[in-house]
Amino acid sequence: MKVLIVGPGAREHAIARSLHLDPAVTELHAVPGNPGIGQVATLHAGDANDGASVAQLATSLGVDLVVVGPEAPLVAGVADAVRDAGIPVFGPSAEAAMLEGSKAFAKEIMAAANVPTAEPRICTNRVVLDAALAEFGAPYVVKDDGLAAGKGVVVTDVLDEATAHGQAILDAGGTVVIEEYLDGPEVSLFCICDGATVVPLMPAQDFKRAYDGDEGLNTGGMGAYTPLPWAPVDVVDEVVKHVAQPTIDEMARRGTPFSGVLYCGLALTSKGLRVVEFNARFGDPETQSVLARLDTPLGAVLLAAAENRLHEIDPLVWSDDAFVTVVLASHGYPESARKGDPITGTEDAEAVEGAHVLHAGTALDADGQLVAAGGRVLSVIGRGESLADARNVAYEALSKISLPGSHHRTDIALVAAQGEANAREARA
Ligand code: AMP
Ligand code: GLY
Repeated sequence: MKVLIVGPGAREHAIARSLHLDPAVTELHAVPGNPGIGQVATLHAGDANDGASVAQLATSLGVDLVVVGPEAPLVAGVADAVRDAGIPVFGPSAEAAMLEGSKAFAKEIMAAANVPTAEPRICTNRVVLDAALAEFGAPYVVKDDGLAAGKGVVVTDVLDEATAHGQAILDAGGTVVIEEYLDGPEVSLFCICDGATVVPLMPAQDFKRAYDGDEGLNTGGMGAYTPLPWAPVDVVDEVVKHVAQPTIDEMARRGTPFSGVLYCGLALTSKGLRVVEFNARFGDPETQSVLARLDTPLGAVLLAAAENRLHEIDPLVWSDDAFVTVVLASHGYPESARKGDPITGTEDAEAVEGAHVLHAGTALDADGQLVAAGGRVLSVIGRGESLADARNVAYEALSKISLPGSHHRTDIALVAAQGEANAREARA
């Protein structure tokens, strides 16, 4: 099988790595990819958000499957263009990707499908905004309706901050979504869908804030781990039954079937399971941990989704090991991202037993030196029998890498690892 991966980041590198390890995959291509992806795939320059040129590339390469990673090309209709060219594609249509592209649309689908979520108020002017903030009270949750790369959400106890964020969105011509605050831990569950059938992957947890102890701004995600030893054993079944399947059924009923990954971002609140957000793609950095844990070869699963035959595949096989991903971010991230700093030591990092490194914002400079080229630069993944072991591997590997001015969180999976160790002691 020949596959073309669309996208530039560590999520796409994780997909590429899994496909590279799949014996059925004979040829891998990526547009535009990155230097890490280039170690396992042929890179093609081009605009990942331009459907016509991606479809043309896929046709000229004669690939059997196109996998679209990020939300921007999905919302721009890249999957539609590839599908129209007669090539199987893993990723939803632009219409179905509106589950991520518009939070207001996602709320409408959830209401129609009876999916539990935070109660929203949609605000298109200041009067409605002020009324919604007063109605819900603190903590205030203020979201940009449209795509904002994980940075459109402010959660704050301070009314002035909430109002200022809402006003800034309105000033930019956007729509504000104010919603009820959800307490409780968050879980990311990726469900592979083909418009009708839902195949859940294993749940993961993501660390969205920039600094240790959940301080700092929301980011795209600074680390992730799986499994979640603290989560209820039936969480996956519950999410499929009450969230993913009803959503997929509602999208099909409307004539816009959802095929690809339905990313269910959930809060396990004191009142039960609630959807925080839907995304229309794999999450980054959770995918780096989740796909590393999947022992089933990935190619046939993605192709079955693209060809509407997920009901035919065998149950997925998972490793019992734990996987912890730590993101190395460039100087200034998330406010800004300094580019051009040299990255060294990735080979030493990969030499650590159980570790591997995935590229996100990297580039090769004119001398062939690997340099930072974005905010989230590398994902370092550690594998171990326990979360504590996996953490040790990831952080040992990370310590081998040098990037001037960079930062990373030191507490990825820390609380969960301690809880897991305590539970083991209690059983002994
Ligand atoms: P979103 O882009 O909708 O996923 O929001 C980004 C992050 O903001 C989430 O991962 C949560 O940590 C936080 N968040 C979003 N909505 C809520 C909510 N209703 N209550 C509490 N926290 C939220
Ligand atoms: N890790 C959060 C996201 O991918 O949206």
